[in-house]
Amino acid sequence: MRIDIITVLPELLRSPFEASIMKRAIEKKIVEVHFHDLRDYTTGNYRQVDDYQYGGGAGMVLMIEPIDKCISQLRSERDYDEIIYLTPDGETLNQKTANALSLKNNLILLCGHYKGVDQRVRDMFVTLEISIGDYVLSGGELAAAVLADSIIRLIPGVLNDETSALSDSFQDNLLAPEVYTRPAEYKGHRVPEILLSGDFPKIEKWRMQNALERTQSRRPDLLED
Ligand code: 6GU
Repeated sequence: MRIDIITVLPELLRSPFEASIMKRAIEKKIVEVHFHDLRDYTTGNYRQVDDYQYGGGAGMVLMIEPIDKCISQLRSERDYDEIIYLTPDGETLNQKTANALSLKNNLILLCGHYKGVDQRVRDMFVTLEISIGDYVLSGGELAAAVLADSIIRLIPGVLNDETSALSDSFQDNLLAPEVYTRPAEYKGHRVPEILLSGDFPKIEKWRMQNALERTQSRRPDLLED
C-alpha cells in the first residue's frame, strides 16, 4: 500500500510514522507513506496556500490551485483508490471503514486547515470524506495520523501475531475482554482464577462472556445491529 498525505504542516505529521507499528510497517516495506507540503505546489513568491473566503467571514480557506497541482501530479504517476479529505463534517471513522481501506493499494489523504478547503476541491477531487469524531481539531493532520494507524495495523504482515488484530475491540462489534499479566496478586487484587487454570476452552468462553458483559454495560449501542 502507498499513502500520500497532502498537508500544510508536514512537521506535525511525521513523528507518528517514525515509531512503533507504523514505523515497522514502513521498514518492512509493507506500506509507503509520502508527505507533500502544499507550499511546494504554489507559484508566487509568498508560497500562499490560503485566502479569505468569498462572502466574508472569519477564517482562511485553502485555495484550489496548489491542491489541484499536487493531486494532478500524483494521479499522473499512479491510480488512486480513494482521495480522502479529513474533515469534521465527513462520515465518522469506524472499524468497518478501516477494514475496507486496509484492502486498497493507493490512497491520498488531504488534510484541511483553517476553515477548510475551497468547496470545489471536494466536488472535483475528493471521493471520501472522513471525520474521526464529534469534536473539532485545529487541522486534519492528527486525524490523518489516526486514520493511517487504524488502516496500516490491519494490513497482513504488519502485526507480529496475525490474530491480534482479529481480537481487537470492535472487530466483531464487541469490546475486547479484560487482560492481566504478572503478578497473579497485587496488593490483594487477584487475577481471575480461570485465567491461571490452563483450561483453554474454558478461558475462551470466559473471554467471550467478559467481552459481551463489557459491551453491554459500556457500549450497548454496539449490540443493536
Ligand atoms: Cl478529520 N478534522 C478536524 N479538523 N477536526 C476533526 C476531524 C477532522 N475529525 C474530528 N474532528
